Amino acid sequence: MSATWAPDTWRALPIKQQPVYPDAAALAAATKTLQGYPPLVFAGEARRLRQSLAAVSEGKAFLLQGGDCAESFAEFNANNIRDTFRVLLQMAVVLTFAAACPIVKVGRLAGQFAKPRSADAETIDGVTLPAYRGDMINGMEFTPASRAPDPARLVQAYSQSAATLNLLRAFAQGGFADLHRVHGWTLGFVARSAQGARYQELADRLTEALGFMEACGLTAETAPQIRETDFFTSHEALFLPYEQALTRIDSLTGDWYGCSAHMLWVGDRTRQPDGAHVEYLRGILNPVGMKCGPTLAPDDLCRLIAILNPRNEAGRLVLIARMGSDKVDSNLAPLIRAVKREGFRVVWSCDPMHGNTIKSSTGFKTRPFERILQEVRRYFAVHQAEGTFPGGVHFEMTGQDVTECTGGAQAITDELLADRYHTHCDPRMNASQSLEMAFLIAELLKAGRSVAKANVAAAS
Ligand code: PEP
Ligand code: CO
Repeated sequence: MSATWAPDTWRALPIKQQPVYPDAAALAAATKTLQGYPPLVFAGEARRLRQSLAAVSEGKAFLLQGGDCAESFAEFNANNIRDTFRVLLQMAVVLTFAAACPIVKVGRLAGQFAKPRSADAETIDGVTLPAYRGDMINGMEFTPASRAPDPARLVQAYSQSAATLNLLRAFAQGGFADLHRVHGWTLGFVARSAQGARYQELADRLTEALGFMEACGLTAETAPQIRETDFFTSHEALFLPYEQALTRIDSLTGDWYGCSAHMLWVGDRTRQPDGAHVEYLRGILNPVGMKCGPTLAPDDLCRLIAILNPRNEAGRLVLIARMGSDKVDSNLAPLIRAVKREGFRVVWSCDPMHGNTIKSSTGFKTRPFERILQEVRRYFAVHQAEGTFPGGVHFEMTGQDVTECTGGAQAITDELLADRYHTHCDPRMNASQSLEMAFLIAELLKAGRSVAKANVAAAS
């Protein structure tokens, strides 16, 4: 790592998880095209997210981050975007209302197109082809043409991100997210479920509270927070030529920002302290995330934090723990203690998805919902024991009624997975499972707050 940083200093360092392009000149031409395109987000928005995350690091707000494992060109349509957005809104309402805590909403959306893979190649019936690395890179279909990295996909990913972001902004600010519509966010198939009924009950109470506030003079006109919301975007900064092309100097401050999303994170497979991905992220001023898996040692974590947040600024760094439900107790506490000992200001978050992936008896990559819930429960318990704030959560989820994770109130079995298994990569929670999860977190947050209050009372 050298003292100077530029959007391309990562190129001199070892890099993992990169595709090999058959035509380097075509790749350079595509990134040059992107360099000429407008940024997707504005630096001021990324700064606002940093402020919100600073509140999270102080235990005054909670981070809800979620969306697709991998967005796809094929499933790009307004309904999919709307449905994921409204489930996130529902989850946020459950958390805000039940736990009386402001929720920072960050979508894993509008840019989540590149995937790290456990192997570079895939072999089927004796034929070996490059692994699918996300729609930004190549196609999922198992043919030589589809699996060849194609630079034109970068421009398509940019366009889809721009259109997605445009719709999300319209939803967040144009009336869709108005709290008066809280009943209308429920999707038909969720309304009939136990979670749906529980949500309707909460929505009734919220509507009643809004009526009371209105009578006191707090209306959507006088309090814009009622009619609009902040919604941010994020993805893994995996394919660095794309990220570099969208790295821009903020004209207001003269600082560099990654302008492909408000928040970018580095994955568990690419977080080497002397590697290219960490080098790229250290120089941009967005809030950044880092996945922390079971192989991360406390010393390495401290070294990485010093690189990614050298000025120890609150709201800059989100540590996303993804241990697996059986490893949280043993592996998370040492990391939390190291961070506490060094006085690092971070946001802790829990990704209960990536450490709990298994193969179903019917051959599908799945995640038992009970293990996902268990990881979240243990994550909260470990924070409680360490006296730290369990900052947030990070989910792979969708508003669609998919059958990708087993279990939940719908009791999806191994056999039922085949019904609606649509993901382009990892299995996501569906809308009912997401809502069920939100109710669990609301309870955990509420319980944590009463313990904190009791501790304060006992100390005074
Ligand atoms: C992901 O978030 O899709 C992912 C690949 O996670 P991780 O880097 O934690 O394995
Ligand atoms: Co994933």
